[in-house]
Amino acid sequence: MVVKDHRGAPLSGANTRAVELYETAVCQFNCYVGDPVGTVDNAIAESPDFAMAIALKAYLLLSGMERGPVPQAAELLAKLRNLKLNDRERRHAAAIACLIDGAFNRASERLDDILIDDPHDIVALQMGHLLDFFRGDSRNLRDRVARVLAEWDEHVPGYHTLLGMHAFGLEETGDYARAEESARRALQFNKRDGWAHHAIAHVMEMMGRYEEGAAYMRDNEDGWASESFFQVHNWWHLALFRLEADQAAEALKLYDGPIRGGQSSMILDMVDASALLWRLKLRGIDLGDRWQAIADRWQPLIEDKLYAFNDCHAVMALIGAGRVGEAERTVSILTETARKQSDNALMSRDVGLPLARALVAFEHGKYAATIDLLRPLRNIAQRFGGSHAQRDLIDLTLIEAAYRAGETSLVRALANERLALKPKSPLARRYRDQGAKQAA
Ligand SMILES: [Fe+2]
Repeated sequence: MVVKDHRGAPLSGANTRAVELYETAVCQFNCYVGDPVGTVDNAIAESPDFAMAIALKAYLLLSGMERGPVPQAAELLAKLRNLKLNDRERRHAAAIACLIDGAFNRASERLDDILIDDPHDIVALQMGHLLDFFRGDSRNLRDRVARVLAEWDEHVPGYHTLLGMHAFGLEETGDYARAEESARRALQFNKRDGWAHHAIAHVMEMMGRYEEGAAYMRDNEDGWASESFFQVHNWWHLALFRLEADQAAEALKLYDGPIRGGQSSMILDMVDASALLWRLKLRGIDLGDRWQAIADRWQPLIEDKLYAFNDCHAVMALIGAGRVGEAERTVSILTETARKQSDNALMSRDVGLPLARALVAFEHGKYAATIDLLRPLRNIAQRFGGSHAQRDLIDLTLIEAAYRAGETSLVRALANERLALKPKSPLARRYRDQGAKQAA
């Protein structure tokens, strides 16, 4: 008898008990809840030659853009290649091999190839979606999902995941009304879908609906925070709403509480922590020894050469901790990486390196140099990945550099731009007032 997953795809090497465990792990991954790695380990223990369970575990290990788990993923790939695989499973092995090699664009294409022939492959879709996010491919965040969505309906297990992912893609391409509608629909099917809650947070962030956004996050905390391995990022979004309201003390409380209280060593969480502290630093807030703690976590990772987006956040933390020499060492490593041939080399060359240089220049009080580096960067920064909300840090640094350099007209222009997008934002209004006061 051919064993199949819950969406009808044949599975090699699995018994029915292992399939149930695998499906639980997929659901946990879909919602960013629980411990999908532990659950898929149980599936592998039940059926050691279960190809898709091994593939899922490799993807989970690689989904955080960290160097540390890569050797373990490579071992899983070797095991996978020794098994008797069907065509779809072989294609997954090829996609995993690309990821292990840091060939993110090629991995993204291979996952898309799987989806063209099997639009119900939810693991390929979610990994592809995450890669679109890490590569800053807004169009594909929306359209990779759109290419398969019509083949699904609410009766296919995991449908909410597609709606949540589509919502995020619609948001990143500026279609806020449809994004919110799709996310809310996802949550009707599954209120634990952490990515759908996240898409709503992004819509509110981009539209400057900071009060409504904060209320939404608070009212729906049960849905996105409890047992979620994605919760730090959603807490970070709540902190952004506080910053938009110009309530820095509230954002700092969230930092000390759910954002950094757990001292997470996941790089995605360290990125959020560093970005939040940097935004607070731009406002001249004394952050005490918080920087040292996060800089200590980054220090052993600066030689990773995996993902320039991470490296820039390491630079922020090292600068914040007063360890400018280590930040400059990171800039040198980015310079070396930028000379090579890889997807990360391109990200480093185009965005990571100039941004890291700008951050160091800012710290040295060279505000004119900071402005020169950041102005051309802001319109191409998507090339090194992340969301619009994350990359807003570049604009915020630019405004502060312009203010400190006494570039009044530039401050006014940038504040006008922010106000056009977020007319009620107290933060944007303060920038405009500061620019006006400086000019007077
Ligand atoms: Fe986000």
